Amino acid sequence: MPQLLITGGAGFIGSHSCLSFLEAGHNLVILDNYSNGSKEALKRVAQLVGLHDSKRLRLIRGDIRNKNDLDKAFTASDQPIEAVIHFAGLKAVSESFLDPLKYWDVNLSGSRSLLEAMLSYECKTIVFSSSATIYGCPQKIPIDETALVQPVNPYGHTKAAVERLLSDLAESQNGWRIASLRYFNPVGAHSSGVIGEDPNGLPNNLFPVVSQVAVGRIEELKVFGCDWSTPDGSAIRDFIHVVDLAEGHLAALEVLLREPPQMLTLNLGTGRGHSVLEVLNAFQKVSKRNIPYLIERRRPGDVACTVADSTMAEQRLGWKTKLNLFDMCKDAWNWQKMNPLGYQEK
Ligand SMILES: NC(=O)c1ccc[n+]([C@@H]2O[C@H](COP(=O)([O-])OP(=O)(O)OC[C@H]3O[C@@H](n4cnc5c(N)ncnc54)[C@H](O)[C@@H]3O)[C@@H](O)[C@H]2O)c1
Repeated sequence: MPQLLITGGAGFIGSHSCLSFLEAGHNLVILDNYSNGSKEALKRVAQLVGLHDSKRLRLIRGDIRNKNDLDKAFTASDQPIEAVIHFAGLKAVSESFLDPLKYWDVNLSGSRSLLEAMLSYECKTIVFSSSATIYGCPQKIPIDETALVQPVNPYGHTKAAVERLLSDLAESQNGWRIASLRYFNPVGAHSSGVIGEDPNGLPNNLFPVVSQVAVGRIEELKVFGCDWSTPDGSAIRDFIHVVDLAEGHLAALEVLLREPPQMLTLNLGTGRGHSVLEVLNAFQKVSKRNIPYLIERRRPGDVACTVADSTMAEQRLGWKTKLNLFDMCKDAWNWQKMNPLGYQEK
C-alpha cells in the first residue's frame, strides 16, 4: 500500500481522513504544527483503527513552510512518499481580513514549499483542500466547476492562488497527478464520538458554535444576517458530513493513482442547501437543548447561498455523499456530549 504524507492531519478534516486512509490500508506520515490540531486526535484515530504498528502512523511536528520539517516528513519512512494529501492551512474568513499576510504565507507560501519538496523527492501526486469560497457570490445555484472563480475574501484568494499554481505546474511538467477538491461546508464528526471538530479558541463555524452553545461553553449563537434573499432570511450552505468528505479524498486518490497523470478539479458537497436557522432547529431537536441565538449584521466576505453541483465528482470518482443533516447534527452532538472540552489536552 502506498505511503502517504498528510499535512494538517491532526485537524478536523485531516483526522477523519487519516482514519479512512488507515482503514483502507495506507501507511501515513503526518506533518502538523498543531496550531489548530491535536496529537490526541491522532492517538484516538489509532485507537479506532486498532493500530499497534507505529510504522503505519508516524507523526512529525513541523511546519509546511519549513524545509527541514518537510525533509523530516519525506524521509520519516523507509518507503518513498507516493502521494501527499494537503490539508494544512488557515481557514477563518474573518481572520483572513485582519491578517492577510499570515494567510498568504501559510496557505500559499506553505503550499509552494511543499510542492518544491515534493519535486525534490520525486513525488508528483497531491490532493489539495480547496474551498467553495473561491466562487465568491455565484451567479447560478447549484454551483458547478465551470462557475467563475472570484473570491470575496483573502482566505478565498489564497485558495484560488494555490489552485492556479497547481494548474500551472500540471501544464509545465509531465507526470503531475493533482486533485483540487472544493469543499462546501464540512461538519459533523465520526459516529463513534471519539473524534470530532475541536478548534482552538472561539470557534468560527456554525456547527462547533451551535454544539458549544448546547453544551454550555458559549452563551449564544450569533446568526450573521437574517436579511439575505433566502426563504427564512438566514444564509444557506451546503453542509457535508466530514466522514463523507474523508471518503471523497480516498476516492480521489484512487482515481489519481489508477489513471494517467491529470488535474482534477471537483466540488465536494451534497447538492442540498440548508439555512442557518434550519440547522439550528435540527440541532435543537437532536440535542433536546434550547440554543439561544442573536441576529447580528452580515459579516464581510459572506454570501447568501452556496450549494454544490457535485455531479462531476460523482461521475469521475464514483463517490456520493451518504449522510444527511440529521446525521450531521446527531454525530456533532454525540462528539460534543462525549467531549465537552474537546480533546482536553490543550
Ligand atoms: N472546515 C472547513 O469549513 C473548510 C472548508 C473548505 C476548505 N477547508 C480547508 O481544508 C483544510 C483542512 O481544514 P480543517 O477544517 O480540517 O482545518 P483545521 O484547522 O482543523 O486543520 C488544519 C490543520 O493544519 C495544521 N496547520 C496549520 N498551519 C500549518 C502549518 N503552517 N504547518 C503545518 N500544519 C499546519 C493545523 O494545526 C491543523 O491541524 C484547510 O486547508 C482548509 O482551508 C476547510
